Amino acid sequence: MFKKLLNWFDERLPVTATIERHLTKYPAPIGQNFWYLAGVLLIVVFVIQFLSGIWLLMNYEATSERAFASVQYIMRDVNYGWIIRYMHTTGASAFFLLIYLHMFRGMMYGSYQKPRELLWILGWLTYIILVAEGFTGYVLPWGQMSFWAAQVIFSLLGAIPVIGEDLLTWIRGDYLISGITLNRLFAFHVVLLPTLLAVVVFVHILALHEVGSNNPEGIDVKKKVDSDGVPLDTVPFFPYDVVKDLYAIGIFLIIFCSVLFFFPDGGGYLIEYINYEPANNLKTPDHIVPAWYYTPYYAMLRAITFPIGPLTAKFLGFVVMAAAMVIFALLPWLDKSPVKSIRYKGIYSKVFLFLFVISFIVLGYLGSVAPNPTRTFLAQIFTIIYFAYFLLMPFYTKYEKCKPVPERILVK
Ligand code: HEM
Repeated sequence: MFKKLLNWFDERLPVTATIERHLTKYPAPIGQNFWYLAGVLLIVVFVIQFLSGIWLLMNYEATSERAFASVQYIMRDVNYGWIIRYMHTTGASAFFLLIYLHMFRGMMYGSYQKPRELLWILGWLTYIILVAEGFTGYVLPWGQMSFWAAQVIFSLLGAIPVIGEDLLTWIRGDYLISGITLNRLFAFHVVLLPTLLAVVVFVHILALHEVGSNNPEGIDVKKKVDSDGVPLDTVPFFPYDVVKDLYAIGIFLIIFCSVLFFFPDGGGYLIEYINYEPANNLKTPDHIVPAWYYTPYYAMLRAITFPIGPLTAKFLGFVVMAAAMVIFALLPWLDKSPVKSIRYKGIYSKVFLFLFVISFIVLGYLGSVAPNPTRTFLAQIFTIIYFAYFLLMPFYTKYEKCKPVPERILVK
């Protein structure tokens, strides 16, 4: 009966063929390690955000009068509203943590190199969309930090020479940040950006399945195939990867729920304490900080303290901050190495990658604390180190001595 039904569908739509190609029979390289789990966990978090978001929407009101109160209503009066909101706030941080791990994996194993350039660009696009999604979502509870974070980010647009002020008024929809601004950010957060994200993630996976997954060794598994054309160093996605992924999802959910139940505000990192105060445009907080996942970029924004010619320091900081995000997209063309994985690259690649990680963490810290002259100086140094990883890459990857890459993946 079931076979008959499936046949009926298969004759009209390639159901079985698609499931086999993209799921059950997808050849996954052997030797994929811990770092390869972030992708599937990102999908899990996307689903958590989508579902908890829909439930939040049932009681949230996107007006400057009611936004803050409606979130408090969800937390206190709506049945299980607190858990839905905590799922969404914890999910936001989990999303960024995982996306950073996922990107770092790609950087370690050269997963952006040919033929995965487009796969990388699509992934990078999801990151940019996520940055916008995080920002627009942060404004919605209309707390003090929501309001002032929006103030800081919007004022950056105003710093663009010549067109800045007009652009700012147009995007803000008002002469100051108001309920109108909140309303449009709401539209972006719940409709435009999630839809874009879903579409780009879908195409990202399609592109992955076209070129095939990389592996920690950076070995091209397609070079050695069996008589059916299946790469020798791969296993079918079902059951091997499915079991591994389900195990990882189980562990992830245990950690996620532990945070949810015992540590929901994450010491002020998952929900900032100052955001428990309603937005007040007459009272600037002493210390405006973005959510932890933006702090490295915020440190770079503040690191630029000097104008150049007619360009203000603020505008230049904005440019540096944007460049720090955009530059990831250029990696496939900056890396001139003949090998993919860091395991076989030379010493310079290892040192620069290490310095990049250190600079990201230090900038993350500097962006979360109040600036002073020493901290600003440190932020300038680490901004230079951050960009050096990318901008010097064409040179150090070209001239360093790499180790020979084995023909086959040797699983120890
Ligand atoms: C919502 C965001 C994202 C989702 C849901 C997602 C999902 C996935 C999944 C399921 C995989 C296959 C499993 C794995 O290799 O981990 C994958 C692979 C990959 N992703 Fe993403 N991804 C996202 C964002 C990104 C970003 C931001 C980048 C890079 C800037 C990226 C680059 C890659 C690359 C290069 C691969 C292939 C890695 C390899 O085979 O070594 N992805 N992604």
